Amino acid sequence: MLEQLENLKKEFNAELQNAKDKTALLNIKAQYIGKTGKMNDILSKMKDASIEVKKSVGAKSNEIKSEMSEKIDEKLAQIETAEINENLAKNWVDITLTDGRRDLGLNCAGYHPVSIVQREIEDIFISMGFEILDGPHIEDDYHNFEALNIPPTHPARDMQDTFWFSDMKHLLRTHTSTIQVRGMESHKPPFKFVGPGKVFRCEATDASHEIAFHQLEGMMVGENVSVANLIYFMKTLLSEIFRKDVEVRLRPGFFPFVEPGFELDIRCLNCGGNGCSVCKHSGWLELLPCGMVHPNVLKYGGIDTEKYNGFAFGLGLDRLVMMRYKIDDIRLIHSGDLRFVKQFAEF
Ligand code: PHE
Repeated sequence: MLEQLENLKKEFNAELQNAKDKTALLNIKAQYIGKTGKMNDILSKMKDASIEVKKSVGAKSNEIKSEMSEKIDEKLAQIETAEINENLAKNWVDITLTDGRRDLGLNCAGYHPVSIVQREIEDIFISMGFEILDGPHIEDDYHNFEALNIPPTHPARDMQDTFWFSDMKHLLRTHTSTIQVRGMESHKPPFKFVGPGKVFRCEATDASHEIAFHQLEGMMVGENVSVANLIYFMKTLLSEIFRKDVEVRLRPGFFPFVEPGFELDIRCLNCGGNGCSVCKHSGWLELLPCGMVHPNVLKYGGIDTEKYNGFAFGLGLDRLVMMRYKIDDIRLIHSGDLRFVKQFAEF
């Protein structure tokens, strides 16, 4: 019987060597030292043996049994460690990576620089209580010209070379001032909103002119709105965008839909006003046209001009993007060149 036990041990060792995973191990455990296992099979034949035999076989079987269960536990631990290591190798995470997708050179999406700046400006205006409005790219003469105090024969139409559709009734909007008209149609004063978007002009292109570019229109209508209000909002906006106090000045500017109309300049951020190549040695940068809304425009918009007035402005987004990121050719913005866009990707 002792010999049987020894043989069982050898058989067990051989099988254990071949066991590759947890299931195989648990099977071996059941087969050898389980209740209905081989070990108990042998021991069950001991019933009629003498006391001495029972004693020595009992002792030996206990010894072999605990040896077997130790070996199984050992092997189990080995297999578990191997499993963990394999998992770690497959699913590792480098917790020191900050911007993983880009560092790994993966081809993934990000925001276009115009979108980044546009969203930032929208947030600034939202924080000042403005609404964000949208308008169509394809417009009619009324919304792009007539309701903005630009009648059919007005020379100001030539200021903005227009892409007309063949019906000669529709056009690609030449400015976001169309959103002023649509905003007045859908709102009762007092109100204030901004309207960002693409605009189109039929022009020759060069480093600072593109046939499609981006503007952000702003309009505030209420009782006793003044030029001081306009300056306040513009100064707050520009200080937020450039993250420092900016000095502004107004010069007269002509647009049929504002009276008085202004060109708003800021003190050159590059030289602080001393004169440099960025500001063409004037110390000032022309930033945005604006003015008090012309009464005719308010009337077209159905607004009582006895009671209400307002201001409007048109911010050129591409110009700001170019200043912020030091881009020297506006044509890059619409180039669709991924090498360009990827430089700005923010996730
Ligand atoms: N719409 C004008 C343009 O595109 C800009 C502007 C907007 C001027 C609002 C004054 C007030 O040239």
